[in-house]
Amino acid sequence: MRKQIVAGNWKMNNNYDEGLKLVSEVVNMAKDELGPDVYLVLAAPFIHQKAISQLLSTGENIYLGAQNCHEKENGAYTGEVSVAMLSSVGTEYVIIGHSERREYFQETNEQLAKKVDLVLSGKLTPIFCCGEPLEVREHGDPYKHVENQIEESLFHLSAEDIKKTVIAYEPIWAIGTGKTATSDQAQYMHAAIRNCLSKKYGQEVAGEISILYGGSCKPSNAKELFSCEDVDGGLIGGASLNARDFIDIAKSF
Ligand code: PGA
Repeated sequence: MRKQIVAGNWKMNNNYDEGLKLVSEVVNMAKDELGPDVYLVLAAPFIHQKAISQLLSTGENIYLGAQNCHEKENGAYTGEVSVAMLSSVGTEYVIIGHSERREYFQETNEQLAKKVDLVLSGKLTPIFCCGEPLEVREHGDPYKHVENQIEESLFHLSAEDIKKTVIAYEPIWAIGTGKTATSDQAQYMHAAIRNCLSKKYGQEVAGEISILYGGSCKPSNAKELFSCEDVDGGLIGGASLNARDFIDIAKSF
């Protein structure tokens, strides 16, 4: 059975106190309202990591995530944060290759492959993001575009490692725009991703990998998106900044 995951990507939002308040609200609501089958991930800024880790207790199904890491183990990389540092404060998931990182920080598929390797070797779980820009959706081949991202950043992994990886499909034209992919568009792409994984690793392995949808996912559309056969949850940006909305999305399976 694939894990159902709802991950909140706070991006560069919430100061320290606001962040901890949001976590307390999420934890309290989750306790009362969520069953054991949904995994929540809170991908907070680096500065919040240790304090959040202390607020989360094991057995709650709420995990701490980061939004990025560096692709080298350590060294003279001013301003960067390593996987070992994250691991030392209790981070368990790391978002890799978000489209904002690819666009504003010129992260390449090759560089992302290295980050995925380090995250896995540190025994953390990568949430690998892929997705096409509007130009490719309208005039190109979005399936080829996404398959290429997956092949170049993930296909060097062993079957055992790819099973530990979470994939998030985030059409760039739907991120922060209020424009969501229809459930048909999401399902077609998720099925194409699973098919591409299946050709390389076999159906059984592909069937175990959680594929999340991201891009203007909110309480009003989560149910329809999560009801798609190959959509195993969501990577939530804006709506993860509000505990009520985030929990309502998590209740949409
Ligand atoms: P959004 O962002 O939900 O605000 O569209 C999603 C993401 O960028 O992960």
